[in-house]
Amino acid sequence: MSFPQGLPSKLPDVGTTIFTVMSRRAAEQGAVNVGQGFPDYPIDPRLAACVGDAVAAGFNQYAPMEGSVALRTAIVAKILAAGGRAVDPETELTVTCGGTESIYSAIQAVVAHGDEAIVFDPAYDAYDPAIRLAGGRCIHIPLNAPDFRIDWQRVRAALSDRTRLIVINNPHNPACTVATAADLDELAAVVRDRPITVIADEVYEHVQYDGRAHQSVMNHPELLHRSFAVYSFGKTLHITGWRVGYCVAPPLLTRELRKVHQFNAFSIAAPLQAAIALYLQRHPDAWRTVAAFFSAKRDLLLARLAGSGLTLPPAQGTYFQLADYSGLGRGLADCNDVQFTERLINEAGVAVIPLSPFYREPPTGMRIVRLCVAKRDETLMEAAARIGAYTAGQ
Ligand SMILES: Cc1ncc(COP(=O)(O)O)c(C=O)c1O
Repeated sequence: MSFPQGLPSKLPDVGTTIFTVMSRRAAEQGAVNVGQGFPDYPIDPRLAACVGDAVAAGFNQYAPMEGSVALRTAIVAKILAAGGRAVDPETELTVTCGGTESIYSAIQAVVAHGDEAIVFDPAYDAYDPAIRLAGGRCIHIPLNAPDFRIDWQRVRAALSDRTRLIVINNPHNPACTVATAADLDELAAVVRDRPITVIADEVYEHVQYDGRAHQSVMNHPELLHRSFAVYSFGKTLHITGWRVGYCVAPPLLTRELRKVHQFNAFSIAAPLQAAIALYLQRHPDAWRTVAAFFSAKRDLLLARLAGSGLTLPPAQGTYFQLADYSGLGRGLADCNDVQFTERLINEAGVAVIPLSPFYREPPTGMRIVRLCVAKRDETLMEAAARIGAYTAGQ
């Protein structure tokens, strides 16, 4: 078969994600990689042991489409222990291929041709393409530095008869902010009496700092009836490569999500589901250490970068930290964020992520990059030392 005009692309503007590009560049340059969000430290050996136990116990064939009973039972217990509601594992919980597949399947389930879906920029990169593949129109509402709060008046103004979905991300990657109870009330007021569902990307639910408490749509009296809440063991148990996540949604939404999921991923790696279930049975409090673990890493990075000339508003949540470089010397402060990132990788040997690719229309003059704190202390200290030496020499 030939395509004289080229193969028509359904996503002509989509290239390789900035995360992959920066990780590849970091490897080429031998740079310290504090860009892409994945841990560079070993996982809990007790969790690793559970994989061997699961394989030996025979969990090697197709798992149930909606997720193994043992894992769904363990998840329900974890949600309850974290102060959440009693989720029905039969009708309200689906195990998916990471949080990403929950998001994709939820979008395909509720967005039809010509529908509109609202996302907030800077936005995690999986939302917009999934909305467009569903035939929807993605409406991008910008959040502005330095506080990146949602302007609810602007959201109201963006609503139309075709609005079917609003995607929120809390805690927010890459803004590193967390939503307040008032934000969820505003969202509930916006969607009240309208045919709009909500996807709440809550993959960093346990990564909140300085005593902040997670505000979940799952616990909101109105939003829980119309929301898909998305979670990821990649974030909570430091296993991004296992690709195990889950979605909590009321029965009506779960039914529709599963229709997509069963022809998309179908079911998730059986031994990995069994291993996580086993681990949570043996160590039901494992997730409780996550906030303190990352908070110590955030504080280490902040302390080590203190004299670097970067402005570092302490992250409220997620395992990222933003750095504003507008206070550096003109040579660097005049660079846009992509140029600055290039210079850091080439001249300082440190890979970070620019913020503008998270926007459809990047704000002019934004001078912010994102660093990942889910790294060994030595990695963070080396990255900070290299950045400090570099900025001092400019
Ligand atoms: C905001 C956000 N949502 C979703 C995901 C995807 O999670 P998973 O790796 O479980 O697919 C990520 C991963 O980086 C993320 O940062």
